[in-house]
Amino acid sequence: MKFLSSLPLLVSFVAANPILRTRDAPKNFHLKTTDASNSAHNNLYVYGYHTGAGFNDAVLTPNVGTASPAFLNDTNVQFSLDTPFPWGLFMLPQNNYGAWEPVQINTGYGSGGFSINNGGLQWLEQHGFGGWLVCDWYHNAPQLFYLYKFLEPTIPSSCSKVQLSVEPIS
Ligand SMILES: *[C@@H]1O[C@H](CO)[C@@H](O)[C@H](O)[C@H]1NC(C)=O
Repeated sequence: MKFLSSLPLLVSFVAANPILRTRDAPKNFHLKTTDASNSAHNNLYVYGYHTGAGFNDAVLTPNVGTASPAFLNDTNVQFSLDTPFPWGLFMLPQNNYGAWEPVQINTGYGSGGFSINNGGLQWLEQHGFGGWLVCDWYHNAPQLFYLYKFLEPTIPSSCSKVQLSVEPIS
């Protein structure tokens, strides 16, 4: 609703400065799990769990102070991690006949094809996106995966389908 009320202002600004339209300042947000049937997998924030130089697994924490601040750059999701180089959200390719695949936060701009719909982060179905999955996994914490749309998953009891909602950072 905040967005709607500021729309007239934005429209007049854009009309007066057409060249600035594609260069809106990025707005930071946290990615937070919602709609899990297992309540332990709700209200968790995505952060980068270091796995090697320039590589992180997308892991989840209840602690908002640990969350990695993200922003949308066109259709890429990037993270503001206070480094001179960018960090992006990478959806690892489906190449092992897996019904779900890992999500990583690595150096670079990440995978294209993201959008925010009804306050939730989506990836393109054409890329094989079948929704988000959270599993209790090997970093001793819940970890983020995405379901591969073209294979029927058998979801283990330690995993939950979730939405990733976009929570603006005030
Ligand atoms: C947005 O992505 C483009 C590359 O597609 C890059 O040149 C630009 O620096 C990025 N913006 C930010 C704020 O990282």
